[in-house]
Amino acid sequence: MAQLLTIEDLRLLAKRRVPRMFYDYADSGAWTESTYRANEADFAGIKLRQRVAVDMTNRTLASTMIGEPVAMPVALAPTGLTGMQHADGEILAAKAASRAGVPFTLSTMSVCSIEDVAENTDKPFWFQLYVMRDRAFIERLIDRAKAAGCSALMLTLDLQILGQRHKDIRNGLSAPPKPTLANLINLALKPRWCLGMLGTKRRSFGNIVGHASGVGDMSSLSAWTAEQFDPTLSWDDVKWIKDRWGGKLILKGILDAEDAELAAQSGADALIVSNHGGRQLDGAVSSIAALPGIVEQVGGRMEVWMDGGIRSGQDVLKAVALGARGVLIGRPFLYGLGALGEEGVRLALDIIRKEMDITMALCGKRDIQDVDGNILVKGKA
Ligand SMILES: Cc1cc2nc3c(=O)[nH]c(=O)nc-3n(C[C@H](O)[C@H](O)[C@H](O)COP(=O)(O)O)c2cc1C
Repeated sequence: MAQLLTIEDLRLLAKRRVPRMFYDYADSGAWTESTYRANEADFAGIKLRQRVAVDMTNRTLASTMIGEPVAMPVALAPTGLTGMQHADGEILAAKAASRAGVPFTLSTMSVCSIEDVAENTDKPFWFQLYVMRDRAFIERLIDRAKAAGCSALMLTLDLQILGQRHKDIRNGLSAPPKPTLANLINLALKPRWCLGMLGTKRRSFGNIVGHASGVGDMSSLSAWTAEQFDPTLSWDDVKWIKDRWGGKLILKGILDAEDAELAAQSGADALIVSNHGGRQLDGAVSSIAALPGIVEQVGGRMEVWMDGGIRSGQDVLKAVALGARGVLIGRPFLYGLGALGEEGVRLALDIIRKEMDITMALCGKRDIQDVDGNILVKGKA
């Protein structure tokens, strides 16, 4: 096997090992994918200041996110169908995150259920909530996250209706895959993945099947999800959810300063500058380009994090320099998971950690808390 030194190396291995339908589900954006590409490309335009003859011993990346200690300010983003990138994917990713000392977020649309992840891991995780029309289901979901000991609720605001990803439609995305001839041929080329799946019972949406009324099997499930995302979601719902949850609340999917102002007024603990990894509004600005204006608008009233396009530790440092208290990574850990399971997620986090450490040192800093706009070249490089 080729040496795995970068997130790109993990992506290429995942592409070989994960069935096309699920690899494409991860590695795609909405419509023309222009925002998906901009998320990564805009990091490249930000240049770092090289500093010399500065003591670089005793470095630390340790920080906090909403008061929780983290080994580095990088959390695993909520991603749907993670248990289809690799058997038992959510549990494996949560274990790898715990080993690396960073937070794991479980998606509403996960394969392993909240209870299952809680039973099989030793550290509290965050739970991401989508607001569905069936409010009784949402109430139960919030209560289940509380009962499972989740230490924060992450409410996603940028998916009131689903953006269109052409590849998912062309591939006929479904979990488990439909046994069409094309799928069977593709699965035959992915023996490791198939073996893993044969060895687990976790092959559907664990938080939903058996918990939402009228959803008992796969066919009723796809009809349910297609019509359940709630287009009426409003800031009143945010208040209602905040009150019902009663713990730390993170708002995900803010890309505009006016929305950031409303988020700051909502009393939530953190917001995430995000365009859903370019999977929703194609043509929207990249997250890193939106970050500085939102940091300015919020003015320290809540923590500001970002996600989208981070593919290296250098990208994390650039985001921190532009005012993010922390970042989330989606695809980088999914590629690791698809490539090598738990070990691959650990490797993805380790690659990012090493890159952060070396970059910080070469910029003349020893403590992530001291990283600010000073490490960046001002103006157009
Ligand atoms: C395959 C996939 C599934 C996702 N599912 C969810 C989800 O269920 N809930 C959510 O809030 N965000 C979801 N996201 C968005 C991520 O949380 C995050 O915003 C995005 O992946 C960040 O961009 P990056 O992948 O470039 O790091 C998903 C992203 C991907 C790639």
